[in-house]
This record gives sequence, structure tokens and C-alpha cells, in this order.
Amino acid sequence: MYAIQLVEPSLTAFRRVSLPDPQPGPGDVLIRLRAAALNFIDVAVATGSFPGATLPMVPVADGAGEIVALGADVESVALGDRVVPHFMPDWLDGPMRPERIAAMRGITHPGSLSEYVAVPAKSVVRLPEHLDLAQGATLPIAATTAWNAVRSASVRPGSTVVILGTGGVSLFALQFAKASGATVILVSSSDEKLERGRALGADHLVNYRAVPDWDKAVLEITHGRGADLVVETVGDATFERSLNAAAMGGTVFTVGFLSGATTSVNLFSIIGKALRVVGNSTGSVADLAEAVRAIEANGIVPVVDRRFVIGETAAAYAELAAGSRHFGKLVIEH
Ligand SMILES: NC(=O)c1ccc[n+]([C@@H]2O[C@H](COP(=O)([O-])OP(=O)(O)OC[C@H]3O[C@@H](n4cnc5c(N)ncnc54)[C@H](OP(=O)(O)O)[C@@H]3O)[C@@H](O)[C@H]2O)c1
Repeated sequence: MYAIQLVEPSLTAFRRVSLPDPQPGPGDVLIRLRAAALNFIDVAVATGSFPGATLPMVPVADGAGEIVALGADVESVALGDRVVPHFMPDWLDGPMRPERIAAMRGITHPGSLSEYVAVPAKSVVRLPEHLDLAQGATLPIAATTAWNAVRSASVRPGSTVVILGTGGVSLFALQFAKASGATVILVSSSDEKLERGRALGADHLVNYRAVPDWDKAVLEITHGRGADLVVETVGDATFERSLNAAAMGGTVFTVGFLSGATTSVNLFSIIGKALRVVGNSTGSVADLAEAVRAIEANGIVPVVDRRFVIGETAAAYAELAAGSRHFGKLVIEH
């Protein structure tokens, strides 16, 4: 089969190779992959800042395709099913445990830039009919994380949710928050992106370049109460403001390290407002399946900003690494 390998820690060290076709073992399915969707973690792997990968390796955690062969004892899916294999194939359900998150596609295990991949049947989720494979490929990391954010704060009609930026996790969180009846405050660097966010349902728009103290804007919009949920996708540049923007008893769902992962905070924000600072590492196959059900029930369409072809892999990585040119997800089709 054809594949793209990352051969050294670099955003340009991609090589097209021919590898033996994988064979599905008992309980596995063989997927003919058609699309790979980039996440920030793929950039971190390619630059050597996220540990665990042994090079050369087939990169990109998230992908989607069609089942073309079944191993012994597989009954949960059928030939021809359009599926997404989950990022962490051993985390089927329940809380995070070390043995459940040891295997990660695109890091410790082959990723999505190959013609075929064999994965456990239990780790795949069928795609809704209204999504094509490029849209489906965006789901495992970003949609699962955003779903867990909205669920962790029990978001419901009347809740207020702050979304930081317009990357992959943020836009899924916006869509899930709106589907849950929440009021959404979107914080972005660009008026043009904010308007695109409005079209997705954002109720209030704050440009953090024009309004650096966007946390105060959130307090004004909420008449001093603050937000029930802040989806913290950015890191040290925003964390303190996220604590300020949260309501008493609110949740700061902490997933991002785009701007860095080391910060100092005034603990009185957390103590005085009894905040819940919730860490998260993607989620289980069951979480992904729930997110997909919500996407199907609400007709949610993932926002794919650009579709690249496999020969443009380095260009796709460069686009994500540039930081804020994209709106939503970048996908490599093959
Ligand atoms: N722990 C987990 O479960 C988990 C899962 C998925 C992702 N993540 C992490 O979450 C982060 C986001 O991932 P992603 O894939 O959504 O990234 P992404 O698509 O690359 O998102 C980038 C966006 O973040 C926004 N941004 C950057 N600096 C900002 C700032 N100072 N204030 C507000 N927004 C800012 C920008 O939006 P604008 O251009 O609109 O300003 C930018 O477009 C990454 O660190 C990723 O590793 C964690």
C-alpha cells in the first residue's frame, strides 16, 4: 500500500513510501482510509515536542474510510461501512487509565496517511450519512473533546459558554453548545472569523486583539455573573482571564497549550468562586460515539476550512502550524 511517513522531527520531513498491506487479526477491521484530519497534536508530534513516536512512522491521528475486510469474530460492523477509527483504540469506555491511553494512532501506532489500516472493530464508530469522509475524519479528537467539554459542565438551555478562538475543538464546542440551548460568547482574533462564528450560532462576538481584556467583556455581557463554561483551548496566554470570565461554580475545561503550558494564577479566583478546573485528554470510544449521535441528531456539519491532497501533506501541516489562518479543520484527502 502507499503511505506517507514522517522520517525525522520536522514539518517538512514527509516521504511517500510503499509498505506491506496490514492484515486484520481476530477482532480487527481493515479500513481503506480516504481522509486524514489534522490536529495541533500532529504538529507537536512532527516537531518532536510530543513524546511517544518512533520514526519513521505514518502520522496523523484522525482519519476516516470504508471497511474492506473483517477479521475473525467481528459482528459489530460490516463490509462497506463508513467509519472513523478512534485516536486511542484501547480506551473503549469509562474513566482514563494508563493502559487505556497507551496506544495512540499517529503517535505510537500507525496514523491516517496510508491506504489501509487495521484497527480493533470495537474502536471504530460508524459515520452519519450526512457527513462525507473528510468531514468524518475531523471527529475523533476534536469532536470528542468538545463533547466532553459541554457535557462536563452539564450545559443546557440558559447556560453561557465562552469559546476561545476558531480552531477545530472550539468550533465543535460552539456547535454542541448551541445544540444544547446555550448562549455562546465567541472570542477570536479576527472580525471576519467572528462573523463566520455568528453564522454557526455564536450570540456574542469579542475580538481579543481589539479587546485584550475579553474576560471583562464576558462579565459585562453576562451582567457580572460570568460564564458557566469556558473552553480553555489556548493555554498560558488566556488561562488567568478564563478563570476571571467564569461564573461562581463554573467550569474551566482545560485542554489547550497552543500558547504554552506553564502559567501562574491567582488561586483566589478558583477558591473564591469554587471553580471547577477540569483537565481532559480527548475521551473514550464511547464518548466519540455519543458525540457522533449528537452530530447526527442535530444535523451538525463539521467545519472543514481546506481540503488538501496527500502530495500536499507538508503544506497542510504548515497551514495548521501557522496558528490562526484556518477556521475549523484542515483535511488531507487520499
Ligand atoms: N486535551 C485534549 O483533550 C485536547 C484535545 C484536542 C485538542 N487539544 C489542544 O487544544 C488546543 C486547540 O486545538 P485545536 O486542534 O482546536 O487547535 P487549532 O485548530 O490549531 O486552533 C487554533 C486557534 O486557536 C485560537 N487562538 C490562538 N491563540 C489564541 C488566544 N490568545 N486567544 C484566543 N484564541 C486563540 C486561534 O483562533 P482565532 O484565529 O479565531 O483567534 C487559532 O485559530 C491545542 O493546544 C490542542 O493540542 C487538547
